Amino acid sequence: MRISNLKKRMGTFELWIEEMNLESGLIHGLAGPNGCGKTTLSKLLTGILTPDEGMMDLEGLTPRDITMTSQKPYLLHDTVYENLILPLKLRGMQPDKEETDAWLERCGLKDKKRQYARSLSSGEQQKLSFIRALIFGPKLVIVDETLSNLDPDSTKLFEELMLEQQRKRPITWLTISHQLVHLKRVCDRVHFMEKGRQIAEGTPKEILLNPSHPSIRAFLADTEVSFRG
Ligand SMILES: Nc1ncnc2c1ncn2[C@@H]1O[C@H](COP(=O)(O)OP(=O)(O)OP(=O)(O)O)[C@@H](O)[C@H]1O
Ligand SMILES: [Mg+2]
Repeated sequence: MRISNLKKRMGTFELWIEEMNLESGLIHGLAGPNGCGKTTLSKLLTGILTPDEGMMDLEGLTPRDITMTSQKPYLLHDTVYENLILPLKLRGMQPDKEETDAWLERCGLKDKKRQYARSLSSGEQQKLSFIRALIFGPKLVIVDETLSNLDPDSTKLFEELMLEQQRKRPITWLTISHQLVHLKRVCDRVHFMEKGRQIAEGTPKEILLNPSHPSIRAFLADTEVSFRG
C-alpha cells in the first residue's frame, strides 16, 4: 500500500505525507510525539476522514477489510459476546461458536461472555476490542495506542496474538504506540512522524536503535535504556 502527497488540514494542523509505504502482510509501527498526526493518518486510512489532496493506494481494500482499535474502545450497551460478534453481523457473516469461544478463552473472557461489556475493566475492554477487530478476518488492522495502560502480561498477549495471526494468515498491521519496546518486538517496519510529516521509515533497528535523524535521537534519548539487553 502506498500513500503519496497526502494532505489533510485539521484546524491549524496540517498532515502532509509525501510518501509512505505499507507493505502488505507486514507489521508496521507508527511512532512520534503527541499531536504529530498519527491518529489523523489512521482515520484517513480507515475512511473516517477524507483527504484534502493526495493518493492512498490501498491495493483494492475497502472499509470492510479495514479495522481500527483505539485506546478507549467503543463498546455497545450489550454483552461481551454481542460486542464480539458485531463486525460479523455488520458484514452478514454467521458467528462460529467454536471460534468465538476460542477467541474469548484466549484472552480470559470466556466466563464473562454474558457480562455487560461496559462493566469490564479497562484492560478487559481493550482485549475485547482487539479480538473484535480480528474476528471477521480483516486485511488491514490499525491499532491506535490500544496497548497503553495494559499490564505486561496483557501486552505480551496482544503481541502473541499479532504474531500468531502473522504465522497463520499474514495481514497488514499499523500499530501506533509510544511503547517503543513493543514496536521493536513486533514490527517489521517502523515509521516515525513529526509535525504532520513522516521523517523516517525503516527497520526497527534503523529507526529505534540507531536513528540518523536528530529529532528521533532526541525523542529516544529518554527511552534508550529500554532497549538494552
Ligand atoms: N477536529 C480537529 N480540529 C482541529 N484540530 C484537530 C482536530 N483533530 C485533530 N486536530 C489536531 O491535529 C493534530 C494531530 O492530532 P492527532 O490526534 O492525529 O495526533 P497523534 O499523533 O495521534 O497524537 P497522540 O500521540 O497524542 O495520540 C493535533 O494537534 C490535534 O489537535
Ligand atoms: Mg493519537
